[in-house]
Amino acid sequence: MGPGGAEVTESLGLDLFAALERERATGKAGEVVSVPVFGAGRGAASVDGEVDVTLVLLVGLGDGSVAAHRRAGAALARAARGIDRLASTVTLTSDDAALRAFVEGAVLATYALGGFRTKPVDDARAPLGTLALAGDGARDEVVATAVTIALASWTARDLAQTPSNVKDPEWLAGRARQLGAEHRLDVRVRDEKALADEGFGGILAVGMGSVRPPRLIAMRYEPPKADRRTPHVVLVGKGITYDTGGLSLKPREGMVPMKTDMTGGAVVMGVLAAVRELGVEVRVTGLVAAAENMPGAAAQRPSDVITQYDGTTVEVLNTDAEGRLVLADAIAYAVAELEPTVVVDVATLTGAATTALGRGIGALYSADDALAGALRDAGEAAGERLWRMPLVDDYRYALDSAIADIAHIETTKVGGGSITAALFLQRFVRDVPWAHLDIAGPARAESDKNELVKGGTGFGVRALLYWLEAGAPVT
Ligand code: BES
Ligand code: MN
Ligand code: ZN
Repeated sequence: MGPGGAEVTESLGLDLFAALERERATGKAGEVVSVPVFGAGRGAASVDGEVDVTLVLLVGLGDGSVAAHRRAGAALARAARGIDRLASTVTLTSDDAALRAFVEGAVLATYALGGFRTKPVDDARAPLGTLALAGDGARDEVVATAVTIALASWTARDLAQTPSNVKDPEWLAGRARQLGAEHRLDVRVRDEKALADEGFGGILAVGMGSVRPPRLIAMRYEPPKADRRTPHVVLVGKGITYDTGGLSLKPREGMVPMKTDMTGGAVVMGVLAAVRELGVEVRVTGLVAAAENMPGAAAQRPSDVITQYDGTTVEVLNTDAEGRLVLADAIAYAVAELEPTVVVDVATLTGAATTALGRGIGALYSADDALAGALRDAGEAAGERLWRMPLVDDYRYALDSAIADIAHIETTKVGGGSITAALFLQRFVRDVPWAHLDIAGPARAESDKNELVKGGTGFGVRALLYWLEAGAPVT
């Protein structure tokens, strides 16, 4: 039994070992055994005569790893629903990384979307109110960092979960302005007129099927001590506020989850909201290419040829492959105008990525080994697994177009839809170090599991923030 076990056993007169035995507890990570304290509330069961203890929760820490701590934190927070205050001694035996993971897990699992119900549902017990951690306060900063990161994921989840009758590109821009005001970020939004004047042909083409016009949102963070040599990270997020597929309409069931098709953008916004609090030492610009992909009367047609921001002409053969068109503009703009040290884009880009890696792992593409390694390591440490996928030269010809510079989907069958999408994006990065995260799988959770809550996950926020905290290493 971990620290505090003996004290609790003694002061409350509980036989915790008997409880563990009764439940056949194994101690695996995230296992929780609840031991109610009888007579609580009448002063009968108090520690040091001060606090009435109504429940003791025993949580398994498995192999004691960082991942096990994340799981334990999440399980504890879930088991403590409906409870106002919980004190934990887990922190007494965990190092900084484990403490962080424990707190991140607890806060992430406590997430609940509010605001769209008129009455609470019967079994919706309130999330745990306060979690007190045993310790002397020397590690308050570690805890604060963990909370900031988890809340950045909450921000992304909130945005992703918002229904699309509420959430359109201008609404998303409004949220960016709000976050900018709260976190001292410079926010600039291009409307459809500015996009047209400056030649953002991909964002406009995707947006023109909707009566709710597209936006390009730019959020800029400048660290307190920046000079000319301070690296500049540009994060680009796919911000499709709803993806019907456009004229290449999606089938009925496939369309339902598409309010979360702006998760990449939401992740970028969540990250930008956290960088100042985390003391990130590099410049960060977040670009969210926001459009609603609808089959309106002015919608683009399969077979149209559009011109991207950098002048590349693209034959659009399937209007449901809209994400790469808006991303290509934003990436090309970053490369041409923002002098980035590195560009990372995040997108719910292809169903094929889910087919390849499932719901638990994000697809990572980069030609830069150091960048790919750093992102993978950051994801591993943060509990967001990334798997490196190949940018196969042999598949490039599949994007050949008979009429334009390039087609945006394969014109020759090679398969590997996530790979061909990444190859399309790669054309727009020129010689800038670049990574692409296809998060179509892990952007949503089908059920509550560990630190995830059913619905939007905000996948990518943690990995990117861990990476930025480490100084965003590139070759
Ligand atoms: N937003 C979808 C990708 C997606 C699918 C995300 C399922 C999450 C769950 C994207 O815009 C899309 O429709 N991609 C097409 C590309 C195809 C037309 C080349 C796809 O994956 O089918
Ligand atoms: Mn689509
Ligand atoms: Zn999409």
